[in-house]
Amino acid sequence: MGMIEVKHLSKYYPPPRRGTFGFTDMIKDFRRPREILPALVDINFDVEEGEIFGLLGPNGAGKTTFCKIMNALVIPTSGHIYIDGYESIRDHEKITRRMVTIFGGEREMWGLFAWRVSVERNLRYIAELWKVPSHLINKRIEYALRILDLEGKRNEWYQKLSAGMKQKVHLALAFIVQPKIIVLDEPTIRLDVPSKRRVHEAIKKELCGDLGSTVLLTTHDMSEAEKLCDRVAILNTKIEFIDKPENIKELSKEYEIMELRLKEINPEIKKELDPFVLRIEEIQENEVCKVKIFFEDKEKNLPEILGVLRNFMVEDIRIRTPSLEDAFIYIINRGEKDVH
Ligand SMILES: Nc1ncnc2c1ncn2[C@@H]1O[C@H](COP(=O)(O)OP(=O)(O)O)[C@@H](O)[C@H]1O
Ligand SMILES: [Mg+2]
Repeated sequence: MGMIEVKHLSKYYPPPRRGTFGFTDMIKDFRRPREILPALVDINFDVEEGEIFGLLGPNGAGKTTFCKIMNALVIPTSGHIYIDGYESIRDHEKITRRMVTIFGGEREMWGLFAWRVSVERNLRYIAELWKVPSHLINKRIEYALRILDLEGKRNEWYQKLSAGMKQKVHLALAFIVQPKIIVLDEPTIRLDVPSKRRVHEAIKKELCGDLGSTVLLTTHDMSEAEKLCDRVAILNTKIEFIDKPENIKELSKEYEIMELRLKEINPEIKKELDPFVLRIEEIQENEVCKVKIFFEDKEKNLPEILGVLRNFMVEDIRIRTPSLEDAFIYIINRGEKDVH
């Protein structure tokens, strides 16, 4: 049995409300379709005990929605998540003892941290809230402060910390509670490079290595997923792909990337290239117009693409090896083109 089991999970959100101004509006509002915007569609996967599992997806992919369903903060339209055998909505009280969730993208952690109270006292309060045995509390606070390089901030008011520091204090929660399951929603989104590295080490070495926790983390950063995760699911409303990060890299054999430098951006170029390419990105960098093209089936498409380019003012053409970032964009676009 997996530590986390996801079965046919879907979430459709209602469309935004326009506000009601009288009887007719009320009737219209009543008839308004309730759940039509898909955020997650038929998601299935298992996470094994001790695994670091990554949900990798762009903004709006449904990552936070997924983490919220794990915490019974959002009710799914259909399907279930089982956490250590418990159903995330029905049994959420039992789960809160075993699981800690840290939302990185959200502004605050649901008011869990008091603003005008020191970091250390905040952490003590959390330890008590999660019923950490009292003889362990001091030890764990010291451990968390050390791992996250927060020792110098212990007496600082939470309010006075920068966004990145606050994020590290939120992460301390995991080291203090030491739960079986940890959910990290974009854990490094607001961190600078050295802090990011420190947090990566702490997740890999201390959380998963020493404490043996199972970690589900979300990110939009492919290199973070590669560094940390045993397996990665590429999510974009649906799951496009689940595999080890190194196998995602392998996909780069299936497509090519061409970069062009143009004298000027001409909207026609996009239209004319469209039949032969998977995706076109325009990049405007101080006066320089660049176009990045993803395409498959080199033998068939390359001559067509070069044929089209003859009609435009191309200054430079380069075909290069795809990076992991490109692989991620490729998988997402491949999924979208298949739908049409
Ligand atoms: N409370 C909500 N009401 C309506 N739509 C929502 C709500 N929360 C999220 N969404 C929509 O669901 C989709 C997924 O959002 P989210 O889970 O926040 O994605 P991510 O965390 O991957 O950026 C987005 O299109 C978003 O606009
Ligand atoms: Mg999010």
